[in-house]
Amino acid sequence: MPGKTTRTDTRLIRAGHGAGRAAKTVGPAVQRGSTVLLPNAASLYPTDDRLTYGRQGLSAQFALQAALAELENAKAVTLYPSGLAALTGALLAILKTGDEVLVTDVIYKPTRRFCDHVLKRFGVTVRYFDPLQSPEELVGGASDAVRVILMESPGSLSFEMQDMTRVAELARARGILTIADNTWGAGYLYRPLDHGIDISVQALTKYVAGHSDVFMGCAATNSAKLARELEDGIHNLGWAVAGEEAYQVLRGLRTLPTRLTRHGESGLTVAAWLRERPEVVEVFHPALPGARGHDLWLRDFTGACGLFGFALQPAPDAAVDAFLDELSLFGLGFSWGGFESLAISCDTQLKVRKFHPDYGGPLIRLHIGLEDPQDLIADLALGLGAYAAHAG
Ligand SMILES: Cc1ncc(COP(=O)(O)O)c(C=O)c1O
Repeated sequence: MPGKTTRTDTRLIRAGHGAGRAAKTVGPAVQRGSTVLLPNAASLYPTDDRLTYGRQGLSAQFALQAALAELENAKAVTLYPSGLAALTGALLAILKTGDEVLVTDVIYKPTRRFCDHVLKRFGVTVRYFDPLQSPEELVGGASDAVRVILMESPGSLSFEMQDMTRVAELARARGILTIADNTWGAGYLYRPLDHGIDISVQALTKYVAGHSDVFMGCAATNSAKLARELEDGIHNLGWAVAGEEAYQVLRGLRTLPTRLTRHGESGLTVAAWLRERPEVVEVFHPALPGARGHDLWLRDFTGACGLFGFALQPAPDAAVDAFLDELSLFGLGFSWGGFESLAISCDTQLKVRKFHPDYGGPLIRLHIGLEDPQDLIADLALGLGAYAAHAG
């Protein structure tokens, strides 16, 4: 407390400074701060990595980074204000004019928009590849300008699996960096860095946060050089995440394994049921025995989340709408990874793709939440009834 010589206004500003009696709690302290107070004049202009400004992160952000490093088996993790920002931030940190980037054709659509609208504007050539192309063809056919291969496996609408391990191995031999959007694997079901991939990116918004109420993303790496580039990248862009939100994401991470186990089991129960339905042409779920990509999933993943797709028998759009509108336990919404079940139709989003595989009929994506799977099945049965009634 300042001495009595100061006046009331000054004392009100100074009172309480340093009076922190922080008890030890299970979660980290949530510090709110743009200003970081430094101990002396010599600390103002450090030449090392000392914390001098709140944008660099404070207690809750550091705690989350440490937990995510554990999750991804990474030496360094950078936080971003959304999953999309993690993808765009990682690309911006690494690429320069004249570079080429190879991007899976099944990439999350807003990432594609960034590649087409921003990277191209800065003189980066973007080429989309078919994830079912062999790794040898993909990497062998890459020009010397290719700096990065960006993958997402399984793709989050149509669930194609790509042999990312082999791509990473071949790419490394040619000095090409690999990045995986690991939101489906969530770091718990799949650890890209253990498979030789250079940077694992996640939308923490989905499974890690787990409650559909916060945005955040991360990029994890084991390379000190890449870690520095990612850190520099985020400082150059001026992005930061708030302590409260870091705390929320960390709270979600604590229950990630328990939730994912349930999402995965219920997802497979629903997928297996759908596969037997006459209205369904095919179920796209790599963890379902016999489904496309199952062998790769079995080799590389330790489990499944609750996100998968299926194709309905061909029918007019009105029948697809009738199916979705009949559902009462599935919300209609574009996200996933929360505790609640969601459904969307996908065909409109597929139009931007360069390669157009035939999925056999209208593609639907489900996110299976933490409800009782038998209730979800009953809901889907009603939806399929409405579909059949409108299919003509
Ligand atoms: C596969 C995938 N990656 C990244 C993102 C972007 O995450 P965010 O919504 O946090 O920007 C999404 C969001 O739906 C996604 O599905």
